[in-house]
Amino acid sequence: MVQRKSDILEKVVIFGANGMLGKELVSVFSKFYKVISLTHADLDIADEDAVSEKIFRLKPSIIINAAGYTNVDLAETERDKAFALNAHAISYLSKAANKCGAMLATYSSDYVFSGEKDGEYDENCEGDSPLNVYGKSKLEGEKSLKNTCKKFYLIRTSWLYGNGKNFVDTMLNSAKTEIKVVSDQIGKPTYAKDLAIATLSLIKDHPSYGTYHLVNEGELSWYDFAKKIFQIAGLNVKVTAVTSDEFKRLAKRPLNSRLLNSKRPRLRSVDKALKSYLETKI
Ligand SMILES: NC(=O)c1ccc[n+]([C@@H]2O[C@H](COP(=O)([O-])OP(=O)(O)OC[C@H]3O[C@@H](n4cnc5c(N)ncnc54)[C@H](OP(=O)(O)O)[C@@H]3O)[C@@H](O)[C@H]2O)c1
Repeated sequence: MVQRKSDILEKVVIFGANGMLGKELVSVFSKFYKVISLTHADLDIADEDAVSEKIFRLKPSIIINAAGYTNVDLAETERDKAFALNAHAISYLSKAANKCGAMLATYSSDYVFSGEKDGEYDENCEGDSPLNVYGKSKLEGEKSLKNTCKKFYLIRTSWLYGNGKNFVDTMLNSAKTEIKVVSDQIGKPTYAKDLAIATLSLIKDHPSYGTYHLVNEGELSWYDFAKKIFQIAGLNVKVTAVTSDEFKRLAKRPLNSRLLNSKRPRLRSVDKALKSYLETKI
């Protein structure tokens, strides 16, 4: 990517800068933009006045929101908190972005879908009957963004892993010789670093505003993914397939989580991304 002088002068504010995705965004965007990183300690995105005041003072041309309520199971019992961060805060960020003419990029999830569709979900699919509170709060956030924000990129992604609490590390740290993993939920695990790079490319290319699906390519179940993790890591762990009904969680998950990226250059394959992530752990 060629660095342009005008890019260097552009100011990008990144919320959730300490999160799994936020850290990668800060690292990737800092090479091309003047980045202002904001963590939870710096600002509570659920505080409308604080959001408005901060954005108005900084006057960025680009706002990226990687903050949110992301504990899918806990959301079942912390509904208000999930909605405050994933829905109401999106409207505060949207209004603040409009006020200073900034573009807002924010992230949503495969969990806005019920998972009952036969094929993949493309960017034109509207969220339908999410199965859990987290998904409902993210869908409400999508609606707020679309209804309020003048210039937005709504980026849906799925099954993130990277520098934070994630499935790959859970598998590696389980220290078991045998593990049961759900085999009837199918999705596209995505490396947070790849998502950050794809977000940079989206913002630099500046296609029309709207919804984008950014995921690594290749669909598999959590069971297949676990087997792949152990195989690449060279660990001898026996993985046993179980159904979602056998492996009950507080929040129900969709069986079909497959997002289709039909608008942007494809990200690399799940295999390549996973290998690259595991290399960082050696
Ligand atoms: N993880 C996934 O599998 C997945 C899948 C699909 C979509 N997404 C979406 O991708 C985005 C990034 O996810 P992630 O996995 O990187 O999340 P994450 O690691 O949980 O990071 C979320 C960040 O938000 C911050 N935060 C929490 N409450 C806040 C508040 N009131 N004000 C300001 N900041 C606050 C957290 O800070 P503290 O930790 O200090 O509270 C944390 O740094 C989210 O929108 C998520 O919904 C994630």
